[in-house]
Amino acid sequence: MAGIEVVRSIERDGLAEVDAFLDRLSRATGHPALGEQQWLDLNGGGGAGFLAALTRDADGGLAGYAQAVRDGERWSMELAVDRELPADDVARAVLAGITEEGGREVALLLTNAGTAEDALAARLGLRPVRDVHNLRRPLPPAELSSIAVRPFRPHADEDSWLRVNNRAFADHPDQSAWTPEMLEARERLPWFDAAGFLLHEEEDRLAGFCWTKLHDADGRRLGEIYVIAVDPDFEGRGLGRELVLAGLDSLWRRGAVIGTLYVDGSNARARRLYERLGFTLDHVDRVYVGALS
Ligand SMILES: CC(C)(COP(=O)(O)OP(=O)(O)OC[C@H]1O[C@@H](n2cnc3c(N)ncnc32)[C@H](O)[C@@H]1OP(=O)(O)O)[C@@H](O)C(=O)NCCC(=O)NCCS
Repeated sequence: MAGIEVVRSIERDGLAEVDAFLDRLSRATGHPALGEQQWLDLNGGGGAGFLAALTRDADGGLAGYAQAVRDGERWSMELAVDRELPADDVARAVLAGITEEGGREVALLLTNAGTAEDALAARLGLRPVRDVHNLRRPLPPAELSSIAVRPFRPHADEDSWLRVNNRAFADHPDQSAWTPEMLEARERLPWFDAAGFLLHEEEDRLAGFCWTKLHDADGRRLGEIYVIAVDPDFEGRGLGRELVLAGLDSLWRRGAVIGTLYVDGSNARARRLYERLGFTLDHVDRVYVGALS
């Protein structure tokens, strides 16, 4: 495909250029141009199971980027393009690369999905299978939490956190199989702050947690509830609500003026909890899948 470069790894200079492009798009749109796992794969240097396509404008500047990583049988793919650029060609270049690698199925995540994104996915032969809702609310929260929380202790709390997380999310495909390596990779990221990773204990064990993340977008300081869960043994006692309030208060005290989180569209229980706490829908990210031939 003319003008589109497909690569299997990205070296240091190229990485700086892609990161700067993604950063510019993220700031312009107010939401991350590339999901965190894909960003970690990109910054890990690529290699086996990694594919990216780059397209440039008339001045040679990066204008579109598509990336896919192998995830078992399936490849996970994301796209980041300048608004006016048709994304079809850069997407098709990656899809062709996946087919060459023997990939048979792709899951494409498009952020802020609307009719244009649905139409793009349909042209690529992909169908929508899952919505992820981004909810927001202004800070501070109207109420304070009434439960005790303490910060996560690196090199001490990993095993108990992994156990509770993977038990609580047993029915959620992306969230139930965290490994020590995945957790440690996050602990090394610049945004990681143990003071905003709140644990609540009962009966001498971890009962639930609210892990928060601060980021700048569009000049407003966003505070994200990054992962929240209650161990199944402690569900339905009001801990989820208290943990949301504790997380929002922590984000507010560290400078965030808007609270945000991502929740699976099918997670009716969690969505109801957040809506009762004043969160409203900001946008929907959508996953599309399809077989490749
Ligand atoms: C979502 C979650 C954090 C809620 O925690 P929780 O401590 O059970 O929640 P609470 O007891 O505070 O109850 C929250 C709401 O769920 C309702 N609820 C509690 N137990 C329930 C049950 N067994 N079935 C259906 N609804 C239930 C409560 O009535 C409450 O609703 P309300 O505000 O309309 O009264 C918890 O279920 C969980 O960890 N789920 C798996 C991980 C997850 O989905 N995390 C959120 C991802 S964004």
